[in-house]
Amino acid sequence: MSDTDNLIIFDTTLRDGEQSPGASMDIEEKIQIANALSDLNVDVIEAGFPIASNGDFTAVQEIAKTIKNSRICALARALEKDILRAADALKDAKYSRIHTFIATSPIHMEMKLKMTPEQVIENAVKAVTIAKNNAEDVEFSPEDAGRSDFRFLCNIIEKVIDAGATTINIPDTVGYNMPHQFGELIKKIIANVPNSSQAIFSVHCHNDLGLAVSNSLSSVLHGARQVECTINGLGERAGNAALEEIVMTVKTRRDVFSCDTRIDTKKIMNCSRLVSSITGFPVQPNKAIVGKNAFAHESGIHQDGIIKSRETYEIMKAEDIGLVSNSLVLGKHSGRNALKQKMAQLNIQSDSDDSFNDLFDRFKELADKKHEIYDEDIIRLSNNIQLSGEDIQLIEMSVTSDSSKKPFAKIKLNIKGEEFQSSSEGDGAVDAAYNAINHLIDFNVELKLYSVNNITSGTDAQGEVTVRVVKDDVIVNGHGADTDIVKASVLAYLNAINKIFQNPNLETKKLSGI
Ligand code: KIV
Ligand code: ZN
Repeated sequence: MSDTDNLIIFDTTLRDGEQSPGASMDIEEKIQIANALSDLNVDVIEAGFPIASNGDFTAVQEIAKTIKNSRICALARALEKDILRAADALKDAKYSRIHTFIATSPIHMEMKLKMTPEQVIENAVKAVTIAKNNAEDVEFSPEDAGRSDFRFLCNIIEKVIDAGATTINIPDTVGYNMPHQFGELIKKIIANVPNSSQAIFSVHCHNDLGLAVSNSLSSVLHGARQVECTINGLGERAGNAALEEIVMTVKTRRDVFSCDTRIDTKKIMNCSRLVSSITGFPVQPNKAIVGKNAFAHESGIHQDGIIKSRETYEIMKAEDIGLVSNSLVLGKHSGRNALKQKMAQLNIQSDSDDSFNDLFDRFKELADKKHEIYDEDIIRLSNNIQLSGEDIQLIEMSVTSDSSKKPFAKIKLNIKGEEFQSSSEGDGAVDAAYNAINHLIDFNVELKLYSVNNITSGTDAQGEVTVRVVKDDVIVNGHGADTDIVKASVLAYLNAINKIFQNPNLETKKLSGI
């Protein structure tokens, strides 16, 4: 290994991350995240599990068509039908990978697969052979490797490398391993598998004991050259290793790691905010790297130290993850040039003059309500969904919230050019507003998630609301931001309803009066 080894960053936010309970994303949102990951220079994007649903298939297909800067990977069990479905979804990708897996731990083989170890090897070899005939690049994972028998693991790995797998991923599926053990396991596998030099070894660690990042990094020290991770550590149960922590540790401790990543770290913060805003999963304030407090210094001693020399209490620069220091705060007197300069600082590009004008109008609208516009506000505005093209738009609303009466809301909507009005009581202001909207649509949606997050601090901060609604098994997310939380909630709900209304796979899309 040389000092310049590339550590491959394999992001699975769109696959394992989406398996987090309550983190479903719709196709447009997945494409938005895939674009942000590609901008971040992620080497491999695991875009989904095409056999799992038509939605997953289409998402992988669309991402494969759109993204040309990263390799697009699709997951498949060690079954022919899964692999062919994955290959089909990937056919427009510039660079593609099929990732096939089968469990190898005694408990999984006996209880889940009901297969003998010999049958598992046979299925794995067959799967890799089919995958190799259908994709230029094949990854194999022995699921629950962290609890598998070492000799069996080496045996199956040798056979799948012979069958054409070029990446061998070692998952700690249940997050059971300790850092020293897991690192040692990787080293021993590489040393004991006779053809190990023909593959890149990867790790995929879950965070059940809070050790996903430590286990991944220990493996890198012992020869792994791919890490599977997710933005903000999203993932099944307690999540996966957090991409931002892996990348910034390797970058900050180059004295320890003999490899580095291709990640454009200045885009980390933007990516983290986007994933949090789309999933409605807020980032905890003390989260390493991307938490609101990660670069905040509260105590007088620390502040004094930082003023004298930044390195006294900071091991990384906030700018390196995309937080702009000496930030220019914008307000209602700021013009187009100030906004353009701020966007350049924040690495935000607008696709056309029209989209810049749209952003500028929304910026002015916000500046009328809010004294100071911070970087987070601009990022939120630029990530905002294009509401102007929606069929159902809010014209006006009023909500009465009086401690002695039931909350009451009146809503006026423009539905495809016509005005409709409704009112309702509710258990709270948001409930009343949602009930009033429900009177204007003649299909039922089930609200699965309602989450509010403040974008900046202060009572005039924009509140960002994410809702998830389900209609006939189709799940959509809606987002809204405003300084008024009830209005942000209404915008989020209407955003979701518009997506349902425009979904060609749903039949009931009639609105009252149309
Ligand atoms: O955790 C796991 O084992 C997985 C595999 C599919 C790689 O997600
Ligand atoms: Zn996993």
